[in-house]
Amino acid sequence: MKSLLAIILTALPFTTSGASAEPPFIGGLARHEKASPKLSGAVLISELSCAACHATTRADLAAKPGPDLSAVGARAHGAHLREFIANPAATKPGTTMPDVLGHLPAAERTAAADALAHYLATLGEAAPTFTRPSPQAVERGRKLYHSVGCVACHSPETPLASSVPLGPVAEKYSVASLAKFLEDPLAVRPGGRMPDAKLDHFEAVDIASYLLRDQAAPPPAFRPDLQLAARGKVLFTQHRCDACHTVDGPRSRPTFAALDQVRPERGCLSAQPGAWPQYALSDSQRTAVRAALAPQAASLSVAENVELSLTRLNCLACHQRGELGGVPANRHAHFTARDENLGDQGRLPPSLTGVGAKLKRDWLREVVVNGASARPYLNTRMPKFGAANAEPLAHWLKQLDPLPPAEFTRVATHDKPHEVGRELAGSKALNCIACHTFREKSAAPLRALDLTTMTERLEENWFHHFLAHPQRFSPLTIMPGFWPDGKSPLPEVLGGDPGQQRNALWQYLERGPEAREPQGLVLEPLVVAVTNEAVIIRRAFPGIGKRGIGVGYPGGINLSFDAGQLRLGSIWSGGFIEASSLWRGQGSGQARILGKDTVTFPTGPAFAVLTSPEAAWPALDATPRPSPNSFMGYTLDAQQRPTLRYSVDGFSVEDFFIERRDTGGRVFMERTLKFSAAPPAAMHFRVAADKIIEPRSTHEFKVGKNLRVRLPSAPMLRDAGEGKELLLPVRGELRIEYHLAAKP
Ligand code: HEC
Ligand code: HEC
Ligand code: HEC
Ligand code: HEC
Ligand code: HEC
Repeated sequence: MKSLLAIILTALPFTTSGASAEPPFIGGLARHEKASPKLSGAVLISELSCAACHATTRADLAAKPGPDLSAVGARAHGAHLREFIANPAATKPGTTMPDVLGHLPAAERTAAADALAHYLATLGEAAPTFTRPSPQAVERGRKLYHSVGCVACHSPETPLASSVPLGPVAEKYSVASLAKFLEDPLAVRPGGRMPDAKLDHFEAVDIASYLLRDQAAPPPAFRPDLQLAARGKVLFTQHRCDACHTVDGPRSRPTFAALDQVRPERGCLSAQPGAWPQYALSDSQRTAVRAALAPQAASLSVAENVELSLTRLNCLACHQRGELGGVPANRHAHFTARDENLGDQGRLPPSLTGVGAKLKRDWLREVVVNGASARPYLNTRMPKFGAANAEPLAHWLKQLDPLPPAEFTRVATHDKPHEVGRELAGSKALNCIACHTFREKSAAPLRALDLTTMTERLEENWFHHFLAHPQRFSPLTIMPGFWPDGKSPLPEVLGGDPGQQRNALWQYLERGPEAREPQGLVLEPLVVAVTNEAVIIRRAFPGIGKRGIGVGYPGGINLSFDAGQLRLGSIWSGGFIEASSLWRGQGSGQARILGKDTVTFPTGPAFAVLTSPEAAWPALDATPRPSPNSFMGYTLDAQQRPTLRYSVDGFSVEDFFIERRDTGGRVFMERTLKFSAAPPAAMHFRVAADKIIEPRSTHEFKVGKNLRVRLPSAPMLRDAGEGKELLLPVRGELRIEYHLAAKP
């Protein structure tokens, strides 16, 4: 059967699809409208991957690699691939992929696109499977999308011009495949133009659900035809798709005229159809490309290299550096703070003016390569650009920003610089802790940059200059100058010498997290309290990787769920968690469980089909591969209790816990597992595994010292390794009670 698109295309006379198409959109150039033609041209040449086909020795013109297609069949729906390949710019206006098939007669082009789509659809484990996005995930995703930084480059929900196009994502992805892409965009698009926002798995699912919120029904089915696929594989190299894309080997090397030899009125720059890719360049883009190809454009100063990289990677969408870039007024509202007290500084990404003189080499590299962060109060994240893309920039910034050496005398050891520094930082003296946290603890509502990580990040020279004149570096800062007119408010400390006082602070802070706390710091553990609604914390939990979900219930029993392995991780009564290490940075740290007598459940799958009653319970599969089991988010009831949703071997599970009271008034948890379809025969659920499991009645068992479970039917209790395991056949809905020995 012919697709609708194929019919339309065949009906059209020969056209070059590029003729009326929107020109490629380059985010960084939209944020740098005053760029010289030479610079814009160099950006265009790399964004449009000209050097993938035309050799060059110029690093500034190096081609952006196209997406890695080795698993594109698992990422994108086949019908969309066919449409996009047949006519990239019409399917995704503003795309940087040229129309490579444009010169073919319409029927041939349609057939080639079809074969290529069939080929690509065979790459990757299995086609994306449709799951309807949950309304609650859509809501969470909407918030995240508009706060973590996506809308620095892409359009917010109310469309804004000059935004990097997302194209028809609802026709392309499934929630799971888009989430996978967003969790690690550099794996698919190694060029780093779509940087890695350090989303955890849940955040990625939520944003994917939001972006696919209009996806109501599965896209048209597309079954790869192996004969067509074989033909597509041949076409893939024939049409030089492999100049930009990898599938299994490296990209093919450039084979056409070298960029320093091309005649700039011809071929790809001629604005004429022909046996070359069609780029739909605007006239000004074409002029700029020609300017960058001129021999005199070939050598760039360090400053030009910095400007070029900031534009190419679109750092300018979030950062200002001198006259360049900065968040445009119409996007300001999407840069928000967790702490309103810090004003714009607590909202907007820091300025990059002079940043090479400010940050130590290693930290600067960590920031741009890995997205290292020091300001937990910003909602916007510094994304990760990867070493290949951002390392040279860090190097150039370090070279570029001079700052004359500050003049001061180092405080001698016998003057006890650490003690003096500690005194200065404390509430009785300069009171740095009134605004800055100290080892993530704060003495006041303001929580600016942590004092104990400053010397790891900052150049000592910069620290001195900054403390002497904060407003020179940051005109709007609320950080006061402590030494007005070069005089110290504390004349008795180190003879009132400002330079020595700043050096004493530096030497004290150089001890980093080992430094003794300054006076006046209140030490409050960050206990997450649970009152009359459930509280959910999605972070790492003991015994569970990053994909932990902790839930504190109103009755005082709490649990952790492992959304990676789809199993109950632990259950405990009493306090919920202590979270100070969670809010240290963005996405790091592990929750500390506060309760006593925590019961932990075994790792590995919770559901399995047993071929015989003796068959061993499957172990955790260590080989990384796409799993048929996946977590699909959760919905909340009126008291915020989650119903966890996941799929296991193709059927979906709803998993809900609620606190109940027994006849003696003691709280226990009741768990209900519901299944979408009849589970396969011999499917079992592992309730527990422990050294000691003893029956109390046919339906009731004591597990270890602290847990008693009540089951809906008689389970199988059998030996497993050193201990026992309790397995329940899965027929319909399961209802299980968990009674803890310790009382909440
Ligand atoms: C997929 C491969 C491919 C890519 C990518 C590509 N070209 Fe070409 N280019 C060709 C082919 C094929 C020709 C025509 C045959 C030839 O000249 O070798 C050509 C010809 C040209 C010519 C005319 C050469 C001459 O002297 O006759 C210029 C100029 C040119 N390309 C510039 C560019 C620019 C600028 C870009 C990026 C915007 C680009 N090309 C991207 C394949 C490519
Ligand atoms: C610094 C700018 C920037 C930021 C910030 C950014 N993106 Fe992108 N994004 C891009 C660019 C540029 C591309 C196209 C990359 C390419 O050419 O390979 C892209 C591509 C994408 C795509 C692929 C579209 C397709 O056709 O398949 C998705 C989806 C996406 N971005 C979502 C997001 C989300 C969600 C966020 C926030 C978590 C985000 N982006 C943050 C610049 C950005
Ligand atoms: C000059 C480089 C270049 C050539 C040649 C090229 N592509 Fe692309 N391709 C890209 C870029 C860049 C993107 C990302 C575009 C975007 O997101 O807007 C892309 C995207 C794609 C995608 C979507 C991938 C994903 O994971 O989202 C597919 C599929 C694709 N190209 C197939 C092809 C095929 C088939 C050919 C040959 C007929 C081809 N491309 C030729 C540069 C190229
Ligand atoms: C989506 C917005 C966004 C983009 C795009 C972005 N940044 Fe950032 N950047 C941030 C935020 C937010 C911070 C503050 C992070 C923190 O310290 O917690 C930051 C911090 C930094 C810092 C640390 C500055 C300091 O004084 O501590 C440097 C350096 C930096 N970014 C460089 C870059 C470069 C270079 C690029 C482009 C390759 C870039 N950023 C792209 C948002 C962004
Ligand atoms: C009235 C509040 C306030 C006080 C008091 C204060 N600071 Fe600050 N300080 C700030 C704010 C706000 C920033 C900027 C944070 C940002 O850029 O996000 C800052 C920035 C800094 C920076 C630059 C860090 C960076 O990476 O950008 C240093 C260093 C610093 N403060 C040291 C100190 C020291 C040492 C003291 C005590 C002598 C002190 N501050 C007292 C509010 C204060």
